[in-house]
Amino acid sequence: MKPLRLDEYEDLARRHLTADVFDYYAGGACDELTLRDNREAFERLRLVGRLLRDVSVRSLATTVLGTEISMPVMIAPVALQRLAFDDGELATARAAAKAATLMILSTLSSVSIEDVAASTRAPLWFQLYIYKDKGLTRELVRRAEEAGCRALVLTVDAQVCGKREREMRHRFQLPRGITMANLEGAGHGTLPNENSGSGLAAHVNSLFDPALDWNDVAWLIGQTRLPIVLKGVLHPDDARLAVAHGASALFVSNHGGRQLDTAPATLDVLESVVEAVDGRAEVYLDGGVRRGTDVVKALALGARAVAVGRPVVWGLAAAGARGVGGVLEILREELDVALALCGARRPEEISRAALF
Ligand code: GLV
Repeated sequence: MKPLRLDEYEDLARRHLTADVFDYYAGGACDELTLRDNREAFERLRLVGRLLRDVSVRSLATTVLGTEISMPVMIAPVALQRLAFDDGELATARAAAKAATLMILSTLSSVSIEDVAASTRAPLWFQLYIYKDKGLTRELVRRAEEAGCRALVLTVDAQVCGKREREMRHRFQLPRGITMANLEGAGHGTLPNENSGSGLAAHVNSLFDPALDWNDVAWLIGQTRLPIVLKGVLHPDDARLAVAHGASALFVSNHGGRQLDTAPATLDVLESVVEAVDGRAEVYLDGGVRRGTDVVKALALGARAVAVGRPVVWGLAAAGARGVGGVLEILREELDVALALCGARRPEEISRAALF
């Protein structure tokens, strides 16, 4: 039976994936308090519909950094999608194109930037980690530019890897034939063999640059003509610094609860970040979005758009591009109904007044 809600895709994915792969995607750091809180923050908030406002003609379309998308829902960067489905990121990109939304491609993608870009007309942004090896980092930036990516999403909440106990228990490794395709040329396509724990944590902790600071944002801006979206912002002071250092947009994100456990839910800090930014950059949110009403709540607190990660992987595992498409269409239908019942015809018409 066709899933009616995103959670049903998660149930399907659990049946299709081995426990180590399911846990890699599903898991968070330590006690997974932040992972749970991302969801619960949405569940705590209430929407109050407004009446008799003629919502007969509606559009969900919006723009992010000038790129039109058919709804304020993007595809979040998720590593290693071939673990979920053979075509991996290629299937996700097909679904993004069909849904007319934007896909953020991970540095740790299992299909190369070039191959994903060549396969799709979906707009792409490239999610970037800064490696200690600045030559490798510059090369990733150049490749993203040449492939036609329209922005760099610089993830700054992973200078060291969160303690992900599910990954550690499974001694997470890549099966033969799956690599981090963008890093093959640099000799880092496979994960280091780590007897005591997660191979991914070993990759992060040995190669990512823990010395990053705000000067590196300026350095990156000097390397590229693409706009920078700073991902991982939770504190209003960091939001102000991000704008001061030239970020064009921010992602309020706690990395899906996979990094600092006990960090606040993204929805709970969204408004303070939006206030700090004061219109000088676009603000997006990820973490825990599972319903159209969640998207409305994020818009009501000032986000321009949201991104979904795990649900996309569950759709991918369940049915490839068709599954990802199913996930996006459920969100689209729910969002359309929720907007209409809130008395809004377009995403811009949702304001804080929609919250009870
Ligand atoms: C990679 O970025 C991960 O969170 O696993």
